[in-house]
Amino acid sequence: MHSSNPSVLRRANPRVLFAAFFLTCIGYYVGRLSQPEPPQNSASGHVPEPKLEIAEGERVTITVQPPPVTVQGPQVTVQVPATVTLTTEVHVPKEEVVPEEPVVLNGPPTQAFQDNLRPDVNYITVWPGSGFTNDVMSYMNLIYLSLLTQRVPILPFFTPTHVKRASGLPDVPAIDFGEVFDVPRLSKGIGKPIVEWWQVKVRHTYYSSQPSLILFLFPRIVTAHRSIRWDAGTSGKPFQKVTNHPMSPAGRSVLISIYRIRLLRSWIKLFKDSADEPHMRFTSLMALAFPEQRNKNIRTPAPSLRLKASLPPDEHLTCFDNMYWIANVEPHEFQHDYSTAWRFVGKYLHWNPRIEGLAQNYIRKTFGLSVAAEIPPRYITIHVRHNDFAGWCHRPVDECFAPLSAYARRVDEVKAELLQTKNLTVSRVIMTSDEKNSTWWDEVEAYGWHRVDHSTTVATYGGWYPLLIDAAIQSGGMGIVGTDLSTVSMIAGHRVKAWRDGAVRQVKWGHPGADDH
Ligand SMILES: *[C@@H]1O[C@H](CO)[C@@H](O)[C@H](O)[C@H]1NC(C)=O
Ligand SMILES: *[C@@H]1O[C@H](CO)[C@@H](O)[C@H](O)[C@H]1NC(C)=O
Repeated sequence: MHSSNPSVLRRANPRVLFAAFFLTCIGYYVGRLSQPEPPQNSASGHVPEPKLEIAEGERVTITVQPPPVTVQGPQVTVQVPATVTLTTEVHVPKEEVVPEEPVVLNGPPTQAFQDNLRPDVNYITVWPGSGFTNDVMSYMNLIYLSLLTQRVPILPFFTPTHVKRASGLPDVPAIDFGEVFDVPRLSKGIGKPIVEWWQVKVRHTYYSSQPSLILFLFPRIVTAHRSIRWDAGTSGKPFQKVTNHPMSPAGRSVLISIYRIRLLRSWIKLFKDSADEPHMRFTSLMALAFPEQRNKNIRTPAPSLRLKASLPPDEHLTCFDNMYWIANVEPHEFQHDYSTAWRFVGKYLHWNPRIEGLAQNYIRKTFGLSVAAEIPPRYITIHVRHNDFAGWCHRPVDECFAPLSAYARRVDEVKAELLQTKNLTVSRVIMTSDEKNSTWWDEVEAYGWHRVDHSTTVATYGGWYPLLIDAAIQSGGMGIVGTDLSTVSMIAGHRVKAWRDGAVRQVKWGHPGADDH
């Protein structure tokens, strides 16, 4: 604490007094200029002005800063203006002062989405409606494509395609992207704004009788793949696509116009000569987001059945129906270390803090730890995918799926790697699986592996949460042993590696001894 004695003018020489006063004023303003600027954004309403209310008996700090000036001259001292700061011990965390990225829209959600798109910004979006993890991968591809095209991505929500069946509930609502993932953190990570559909358009108008026309490009290739139900057409006639409207909770069918891409096979495909390979090239879709290639490659669309409109694709909002099958150099490249969508987007896609917190509670409960226990506790997760994978088996499932002993061997490898590379001894293991067979789970228990108790999760948090909590648990461990070819295991592996610098193994299956090595 500074204190200054009242200063005294011993010799009243007006010229010295004036000079001293002049210098003092300059010194004062130089001092003011060198102080940090007050925050500029306080007027915009983002930052509350910290109020100084001093309660009785509260400790107050008084700081007195004299200006940086010294007056040379014998026996002349001048009383100078000083900056006095009065603060109680109120701490305003730095993070809260940083204003959030403004939403790149005209304002609150509108009836017609076009009314909310800013004229100076271009956007890109995708049609949702696959399984959760595949939609996550589609949305990562969407955001990567938004970087390539310098458009703002508009993120759809997740539709409960598989979740509904697993939850046993008659209906499960769609869930917002931002309820699952930390959008502000993602936006900061990629350094670009991100928008969600609910911010663009009023929710109940997604499937109203007066829908806004969303003009999608359908660059999908005709292939033999079972998930592709429509025909990109070779006859030259425009056509309509009938689809389950994924934005409708009832899965209501709607008709939308389709744009045909000419030169499909030779131009946008990853492999020009393969009839069955469904992947498209990132750079081809990028080029289609610009008028030059788009105008060269599309035909006039048929009028839409409901609105009888036949409009050219929207320059303002580019939309592709599917962004799962996109790659740069080889199919399914998400699983590779160089995956562009993972490196530029996926690794910044962290869980919503609420889900992170729920996962930690479930982990504590699973291990019987107290609320105050070490966070995060160290563990290894196993993810075993069965059920629908049986459809790929060409033999009885007990000869096709990897036995638990194969997973146990991989768990030992993960433990050995963590000890060797990090000097970490990790003994706790959690099994996550879609398996229903209770005999199988008894065997899991015999290995000493833990199982997350989801008996009340659906009732407490909703149909989405067993899946979301398990996925957050998988990404929070120091290691993961997954099931080869499972996208859930593959993305969890990326997360464990990128976020924990952990150890990852995938167990092969398909025939007895498939994982022997
Ligand atoms: C490894 O960890 C153990 C126990 O935590 C510790 O005693 C030991 O010094 C560590 N070794 C090395 C090489 O850091
Ligand atoms: C349940 O699991 C056990 C042990 O893995 C297996 O022997 C049995 O055949 C399974 N039962 C069914 C109905 O799949």
